[in-house]
Amino acid sequence: MSTPSLLILPGDGIGPEVMVEVRKIIDWLSNHRGISFEVSEDLVGGAAYDAHGVALHDATMAKAQSVDAVLLGAVGGPKYDNLDFSVKPERGLLRLRKEMDLFANLRPAQCFDALADFSSLKRDLVAGLDIMIVRELTSGSYFGEPRGIFKEGNERVGINTHRYTESEIARVARAAFELAQRRSNRVCSMEKANVMEAGVLWRDVVSEVHQAEYSDVELSHMYADNGAMQLVRAPKQFDVILTDNLFGDILSDCAAMLTGSLGMLPSASLGSPMDNGRPKALYEPVHGSAPDITGQGKANPSACVLSFAMALRYSFNMGKEATRIENAVEGVLADGVRTADLLQADGEQPVTTSEMGNAIVARLTASL
Ligand code: IPM
Ligand code: MG
Repeated sequence: MSTPSLLILPGDGIGPEVMVEVRKIIDWLSNHRGISFEVSEDLVGGAAYDAHGVALHDATMAKAQSVDAVLLGAVGGPKYDNLDFSVKPERGLLRLRKEMDLFANLRPAQCFDALADFSSLKRDLVAGLDIMIVRELTSGSYFGEPRGIFKEGNERVGINTHRYTESEIARVARAAFELAQRRSNRVCSMEKANVMEAGVLWRDVVSEVHQAEYSDVELSHMYADNGAMQLVRAPKQFDVILTDNLFGDILSDCAAMLTGSLGMLPSASLGSPMDNGRPKALYEPVHGSAPDITGQGKANPSACVLSFAMALRYSFNMGKEATRIENAVEGVLADGVRTADLLQADGEQPVTTSEMGNAIVARLTASL
């Protein structure tokens, strides 16, 4: 097979800073493991807006469609808050998700033992936590039509449409069941079937797919509001959580915080297989652009590094190298190395973004 290709879109805020650390890992793999990538880099979000007046240039979109995987940093920042909706940095990310048809968003929430005390929940509720949220990413309220702000009589009305087709539900359900089979074999599907027709259909279709194709997996259903409550009451009851685009956005932030820091959480957004058998894929940390700490060397590069590890696992069939990177991050934390987001006691000295990256690389080398 030819050298796998990777498009890096660092984006805005701390995106470029954490991506520098991922580059160190990529170089390490090339130097020590003989694994090379054809890496290109381009603009997305506010950075693309500044250069081209749009949050994602057509040429960048075309490049994203042609590579084996995209790795994205973060988009957005206060500088762009007042821009027209159509050119806001977030539109760049949403366009990538939609046009690459990345319908399955995998957001693992894993609590590393060294960080169990950083969670806002008590240690025993989160220690050993390992759940996977599968969020539908290309439909629902984020993309449904009609949408807009319209005039109705003498007032304005804001409209978004929560819309799901059977096939959209079925394909993301399959992704969740298949993941569950490689984990603890349990899926909990969350919607609001008590108030929304789209939720009734969601529950129906998930049950049908389950019965026809995955009856070996344990399936349960929960209303999303109860799901939010259960996530903070007893998060370890879950294995895979399957949910729609909007509920998934909210539930995944909630799950993220259980693990101690948003700075630790990776994600993968996967679509259908391409001609080479690899899924269309974009990997990104769950944290945003964090404008408040941009340019200060305070950002934790772990989430972005772990997103790259997900790329190795889900796009490049390099699960062993992915585990090596995950173990290196965990090892660094166990050594007590902490970026600013992970400090507890006053007077503790944080390491910089770059020092954190170097520590991960040193752990990788020690693993050989
Ligand atoms: C996320 C983010 C995005 C979303 C924003 C940046 C558009 O919050 O990936 O969860 O709402 O999906
Ligand atoms: Mg979000």
